[in-house]
Amino acid sequence: MKKLGYAVLGLGIGMAHCEGAALSENAELVAVCDIDRARLDKAHALYPDATLYEDFEELLKDTRVDIISICLPSAMHADFAVRAMRAGKHVLVEKPIDITPERAALIEAARVETGMTCGIVHQNRFSFNIAAIKRAVEEGKLGRLILGTFAVKWYREQKYYDRGGWRGTWEMDGGGSLMNQAVHTVDLMQWLMGEVESVTSTMGICNHNIQTEDLTASLITFKSGATATFVSTTCAYPGISTEIDLYGTEGSVEADADLLKTWKMRDDEDEEEEEEMLARYGKGNRYAAEQEPGVLYGHRHVVEDIILAVRDGRDPEVMPADAIRAVKIVDAVYRSARAGGVKILLN
Ligand SMILES: NC(=O)c1ccc[n+]([C@@H]2O[C@H](COP(=O)([O-])OP(=O)(O)OC[C@H]3O[C@@H](n4cnc5c(N)ncnc54)[C@H](O)[C@@H]3O)[C@@H](O)[C@H]2O)c1
Repeated sequence: MKKLGYAVLGLGIGMAHCEGAALSENAELVAVCDIDRARLDKAHALYPDATLYEDFEELLKDTRVDIISICLPSAMHADFAVRAMRAGKHVLVEKPIDITPERAALIEAARVETGMTCGIVHQNRFSFNIAAIKRAVEEGKLGRLILGTFAVKWYREQKYYDRGGWRGTWEMDGGGSLMNQAVHTVDLMQWLMGEVESVTSTMGICNHNIQTEDLTASLITFKSGATATFVSTTCAYPGISTEIDLYGTEGSVEADADLLKTWKMRDDEDEEEEEEMLARYGKGNRYAAEQEPGVLYGHRHVVEDIILAVRDGRDPEVMPADAIRAVKIVDAVYRSARAGGVKILLN
C-alpha cells in the first residue's frame, strides 16, 4: 500500500512529530514548514529528503502531503488547522486544541464540514500506566469513584517565559501552568472521572514575571457525584511530580506521570495483582514498552494513530470533541478565579 505523505508545521515539539512520521512504516515525512530558518536547517540535517517550506500556503499546495501536524503556538491552532482541512489535508493538532472553547469549536466545525480526519495530541492517555488505570476504571475495578487528587507540580525558570515570546501570555498561550503544562492532566482527569459539573478556583502569579498565572488550585465536582482537587504550578522547584490519584469504593490507584505508584484493590487480598501491576507499570513508559514490544507511546503513538486512522478510514483516538472538554474546564477555572472564586457550572 502507498505510504501517506506527512508534513509537520512548526519545528519545536514538531520535531517529535517528524520522528514519528519518519519512523512509521505507513508514512513518509515529505515536508516540514517553519518561519524560522535555523529550525528548518536543523530539520533538514536530520531529514534531508523532506522539502522545506517557509510559507504555509505553499505547503498546502504540495499534493504529496496527506496529513499535517499543527505544532504552532497554541492560539494559532484553529486558524491553521481549519485552513489545512479546507485545503484537503488531514490534521493532527498539538495540545491544547486551541485556547478557548469557541476557537476549539471551529476545528470541530471544519472537520465536519470538510470530512477530513482530525486528531488532537493528548499522548499521556497512552502512557502504559494510565491506559491500565483507564481499563480498571472502565471495568469497574475501583467501584464508584469518590475522589480524585491531581497535582502538576512543575518548575519553569523565568528564562523559559522570556525565551518563547508566546509563553505565559493570555493572547497566544491562553494561560499559564494550567493551559500549557497541566492541560494534559486536565484531559486525563475528565477522561478518567467523567463529566465535570462545577469548578471553584483560585490562581496567582507567584514567582514569575508573566501575564497569566504560575499557580492554580481548584475544587472540582463531577456529574457522577465525585469530587476532585486540581493544582497546577510552574513554581515547584526543581519540578517535582504529576500526581494522578483516584479513590473509589473498591480500590485506589496513584500515579506520578508515567509511573504507577499505588494499586490497591479490595478484591486483591493476596496482593498478587498489586505486585504484578507495580512491576509492570511502576518504572515508566520506557520499561513498560520493553515488556510490550510493538506498543507505541508518546508522540510516536499519536502520530501513528492519525496515519492509521487516515489509511483505514477510521476516527483517531482523540477527536476534537474529546479535547474541547479540557479547554472548557481550563476556561471555567480561569473564570472562577477571576471572579474571586465563585463556583462556575459547566454545561
Ligand atoms: N504534547 C506535548 O507534550 C507538547 C509539548 C510541547 C509543546 N506542545 C504544544 O505544541 C505547540 C508548540 O509548542 P512548542 O513548544 O513547539 O513551541 P515553539 O515556539 O518552540 O515552536 C513553535 C514553532 O512554530 C513556528 N511558527 C510560528 N508561526 C509560524 C507560521 N506562521 N508558519 C510556520 N511556522 C510558524 C515558530 O517559528 C516555532 O519554530 C504548543 O501549542 C504547545 O502547547 C505540546
